[in-house]
Amino acid sequence: MRPVEAQDLDLLAGWFGHASFAEYWGGVPLSREQVARDLGAAIQETLPDGRIERVQPYIIEYHGEPAGFLQQWSQGEDECGLDIVMAPAYRDRGLGTDALRALAIHLRGACGRRRITVDPLLANARAIRAFAKCGFVPERKWPDHPDGPSLLMVFRG
Ligand SMILES: CC(C)(COP(=O)(O)OP(=O)(O)OC[C@H]1O[C@@H](n2cnc3c(N)ncnc32)[C@H](O)[C@@H]1OP(=O)(O)O)[C@@H](O)C(=O)NCCC(=O)NCCS
Repeated sequence: MRPVEAQDLDLLAGWFGHASFAEYWGGVPLSREQVARDLGAAIQETLPDGRIERVQPYIIEYHGEPAGFLQQWSQGEDECGLDIVMAPAYRDRGLGTDALRALAIHLRGACGRRRITVDPLLANARAIRAFAKCGFVPERKWPDHPDGPSLLMVFRG
């Protein structure tokens, strides 16, 4: 994994402008401008309550080729959430699971994050299975999640 850089915009716009990514990212393909604003670089903002919100996007590479997108977001220092989409050719090969597990272990160990979560749609059986393989366990159903009925899972490692 490596942090997203400015020169990744063409790659990300191609990925998130396509249904195979949009299906797992809000349902609607994103414009290049939306990608540049929301996914094209690390974001840090101070929230009204004084907490700092950070979003850090990563490219997952496999043998030097871009294979997927992984995003870490957090509000404050204690908790963070992860979102992942592998490019279609790299799904079901154990690679997304490897990347997610590696980042979760790093966030828990080196960064001291107490709580690391993922929130797959309840209908996304493959993601729920993959997250369970990484060490995430179901915490509760989340019926009114903005993306649709979801499952909140927390990393136990
Ligand atoms: C979810 C995702 C990140 C998982 O990464 P991955 O590298 O493909 O995962 P793996 O290959 O390690 O594991 C997938 C598991 O799901 C299983 N699986 C595949 N299709 C399945 C299905 N329709 N129902 C249930 N399980 C399924 C596989 O058998 C495998 O489990 P196993 O190792 O016990 O056999 C990746 O598939 C992906 O990007 N999917 C599309 C985007 C997405 O759903 N993102 C998550 C949004 S919350």
